[in-house]
Amino acid sequence: MWYGWAYLETLFIGSEEVKKELPVDAERFVGIDVDVKKVLKDISSTKNAVKACSTDPEIVKKLESTQSKLEMCEKSLANYLEQKRRIFPRFYFVSTSDLLDILSNGNDPAKVNFHTDKIIAAISTLDLIGGATSSDRPSATGFESSVGVENIPLPKPFKIEGRVEHYMQAIINQVTNALRECLKVSNANFVKDSTEVWVKREPNQIILTTSLTFFTIKMEETFTAIAAGDDKAMYKMWQFKIEGLTGLIDLVRTKLTKAERMKIMCLITLDAHSRDISKNLMDGQVTERTQFEWQSQLRFEWRDKENDCYINIVDAEFTYSFEYIGNGARLVITPLTDRIYVTATQALKLKMGCAPAGPAGTGKTETTKDLAAMMAVCIYVFNCAPEMDYRSLGDIWKGLGASGAWGCFDEFNRLIAEVLSVCSTQYKCILDSLVANRPTFTLDGAELSLNVSVGAYITMNPGYLGRTPLPESLKALFRPVTVVVPDFALICENMLMSEGYTQARLLGVKFINLYTLCGDLLSKAKHYDWCQTEIPKSVCHSVFTR
Ligand SMILES: Nc1ncnc2c1ncn2[C@@H]1O[C@H](COP(=O)(O)OP(=O)(O)OP(=O)(O)O)[C@@H](O)[C@H]1O
Ligand SMILES: [Mg+2]
Repeated sequence: MWYGWAYLETLFIGSEEVKKELPVDAERFVGIDVDVKKVLKDISSTKNAVKACSTDPEIVKKLESTQSKLEMCEKSLANYLEQKRRIFPRFYFVSTSDLLDILSNGNDPAKVNFHTDKIIAAISTLDLIGGATSSDRPSATGFESSVGVENIPLPKPFKIEGRVEHYMQAIINQVTNALRECLKVSNANFVKDSTEVWVKREPNQIILTTSLTFFTIKMEETFTAIAAGDDKAMYKMWQFKIEGLTGLIDLVRTKLTKAERMKIMCLITLDAHSRDISKNLMDGQVTERTQFEWQSQLRFEWRDKENDCYINIVDAEFTYSFEYIGNGARLVITPLTDRIYVTATQALKLKMGCAPAGPAGTGKTETTKDLAAMMAVCIYVFNCAPEMDYRSLGDIWKGLGASGAWGCFDEFNRLIAEVLSVCSTQYKCILDSLVANRPTFTLDGAELSLNVSVGAYITMNPGYLGRTPLPESLKALFRPVTVVVPDFALICENMLMSEGYTQARLLGVKFINLYTLCGDLLSKAKHYDWCQTEIPKSVCHSVFTR
């Protein structure tokens, strides 16, 4: 009971919002507060709970009635927060105390600004102007990245008005629109501007998307040329990509700001993949655009008519979601990454989840996050623990289904069996609505609107100690994909390339050989970690301290 009281005290006594919205319960809590403090004071001299209660039988009765009153307060608070969360589903992923802080400062966007990264993870703060007087609300003119350094202006200032649960959604829409405009402009200027000017001007995710869009256009042209009888078309494409990549590697060696360097490094990472695709297609003598080797790649397309960016992979089509990603590093795309992308997107098309399973440190979580970044979808990663109960999972599912975000449940099989089986029912509610094309889904008695971009991923280390086998009902909802150790030589090569090395392939292989030899020949002491997942980190370290 003590914990319940201490927790609620900060909310009911400390929060003006709660006092205003739940006056009856706030008053009830004042009574509880007096009672609890009195009991604590009375028994503080005894310093022994059993003795204190046995001397005065009234204390136990008093505590019992306080407990039931506390539960009533707790319930009304939960109901109140649930209402707000239903209006703006991303609040499901904000802790109770943060949410109360947001709600109580709803009229003061400058104070809510502090919490922006809890709503859109890659945004640290909004740039606000005006709002000096209490009656005047400020306007947002742009936003700052919390992942890497980046500032993006909004097309026009947006006045933050209304209740916080409403303007939060409006802010997300503003960010989406700003990015859509950026992508449109970037696509239009890609051919006109020099790479250097273009890279420095546009945001990271827009550069990468534009680059991939033009790669798709070029590849389509190549297939048309092959059909017209040009045998060397794919070879020319490969050479074109190598030239582009060499240009970028030269550029990364010039004097750049940290933010610019990060953008070019990401561009090199993705361009290296494009280069490898054209090489593989050439080696495999792929001549038709309908062949699987090309179909299984993420193909980006900007459609002017719809003013939207589309992503095709095999027979699945998605729209680019324009969630802000920030200016962070991207993973190297290996054949394993490609395989996970195909399975995950096919799962989405089939209205299922995806379950990457494999040994620790093979990139399951990171690859899932990277796919979300590619498609600009909001993703939440949850570290599953045996302590999680079905109620907290229910809230997560409600949040995911209603906001259309992706959820990546790390170490999913650490949840206990009972929770796992309830979890399968909860996820099935969402999937059933998706399959039936219903606009809403019902979970825990609550009907919420359904956002069709919702996705779920569960990553697991099968066969590890303390892991629960998944129930069959749950397995049926997820497409499995086996993850093995990635091609670290390729990862190493790419990382060296993005640091400015042109002879990266040879160097990458040498690095891996060195690591394997060290692991085999040197002492097996615990503090020597020759695990290959460490290689990317040590490559970066050696390069940055050179
Ligand atoms: N394609 C890749 N490009 C770059 N680095 C990678 C790639 N794949 C894996 N890594 C490296 O492997 C590390 C581990 O990845 P991640 O945390 O996703 O593994 P995991 O499979 O989820 O492991 P666990 O089972 O322990 O959760 C990453 O930090 C990253 O450095
Ligand atoms: Mg993981």
